[in-house]
Amino acid sequence: MKPTIGIPDNDLKEVATLLNILLADEYVLFTKTRNAHWNITGLSFYEMHKLFQSQYEAMDIMIDDIAERVRSLGHFALGSLKDFLTVTNLSEGKDDFSSSEQMIQSLLNDHETIIRMIRNDIIPISDKYKDLGTADFVTGLMEQHEKISWMLRSSVYYVETETESGKTAIN
Ligand SMILES: [Fe+2]
Repeated sequence: MKPTIGIPDNDLKEVATLLNILLADEYVLFTKTRNAHWNITGLSFYEMHKLFQSQYEAMDIMIDDIAERVRSLGHFALGSLKDFLTVTNLSEGKDDFSSSEQMIQSLLNDHETIIRMIRNDIIPISDKYKDLGTADFVTGLMEQHEKISWMLRSSVYYVETETESGKTAIN
């Protein structure tokens, strides 16, 4: 049964497509963050290991919420790794995970890509498709990514500061 929630079918479809692309991006970044959680090494291992865990746990909730939002709009959520890799804006396999600093920078780049993408989507979702519920929802997701990005950025700065002061670099 189609939702009759005051948004034309075609507009619901367009919004669901944007959400499915976001779902794919979140899933790819969730996996990269688990990779970092498992494989980071160095003096800050335990702090970063825990930080990455808190971030992938937050993204796990975001992923579920995005998929269920797609269903709430009357469409099906993507649910296979193949589909995620087909539509994602993020690349997998080209990341430089050769040092802790590169690992953090790579994750930061992806969070910032998602932030820019959501920011671009908010205007058509609210103004063109009149889906204020989804506009509000993705704005909240963007804010979560902005906070995660701040923490990653601050972690990179810490590594740089430590290196400049002549102490052992974290890698
Ligand atoms: Fe773990």
